[in-house]
Amino acid sequence: MRVLHLTDPHLFADRNGALRGAVTYATLRSVIEHYRHGDFAADLVALTGDIIQDDSAEAYGHCRDLLTALDLPVFCVPGNHDVRHLMRDILPAPPFSYCDSVAIGNWLIVGIDSCSSGRPGGKIAERELCRMEDTIAASSAKHVMICLHHPPVPMHSKWLDSVGLDNGDEFLERAGSAGRVRIAIFGHVHQDHDAERDGIRLIATPSTCRQFLPHSDEFAVDDRPPAYRCIEMQPDGSVSTELIWVESG
Ligand SMILES: [Fe+2]
Repeated sequence: MRVLHLTDPHLFADRNGALRGAVTYATLRSVIEHYRHGDFAADLVALTGDIIQDDSAEAYGHCRDLLTALDLPVFCVPGNHDVRHLMRDILPAPPFSYCDSVAIGNWLIVGIDSCSSGRPGGKIAERELCRMEDTIAASSAKHVMICLHHPPVPMHSKWLDSVGLDNGDEFLERAGSAGRVRIAIFGHVHQDHDAERDGIRLIATPSTCRQFLPHSDEFAVDDRPPAYRCIEMQPDGSVSTELIWVESG
């Protein structure tokens, strides 16, 4: 099973809209073009939130248009910059799915909503944690990947950790109790992260637009380029990934 992880495109209705100097439509298009010219053949796209920046339906339309060209299922979860009702209206039909689950081979992928309305930090609602547990319990898949927006662990960056996930420990405890969760992927942090806790690989992929400076106490933009990640999950539960920086973006 191969997953193309894209996150935090922060699109605008205006295709020339820029976030801290990055024209986000152009950088997402560059990332997609880079993937298309590579030799990694994904089975699906995981898109872990902050799809839009300006609360517009048009920006979701741009996301739909750019990603439909990949001819792959696109597995979406919302981020704190998303507008849930717009996202559900525009990205509900194939190839897109919203906070859904899918089983491929020995693997189950579960997307969960980690957002807390009206603020940048997240908290996974009890109903979402229950849905995660029930979906895993109902599946015969041997291995599970969880997709969410917020980081379940601190990034050791003061400002970023102040807008992290309130109940990351609870999430990890309940995901760990399922016994089959091998990996959780997320966005929000606009930087690379690859660690393991209690047997669960925790992976953040940098944004398809602007990055944040790692380990900074105060907000700071990094000068690293747009990025995406290729994730390969084996039938035995092992996982390998390659982070790709798109210099031309
Ligand atoms: Fe973001």
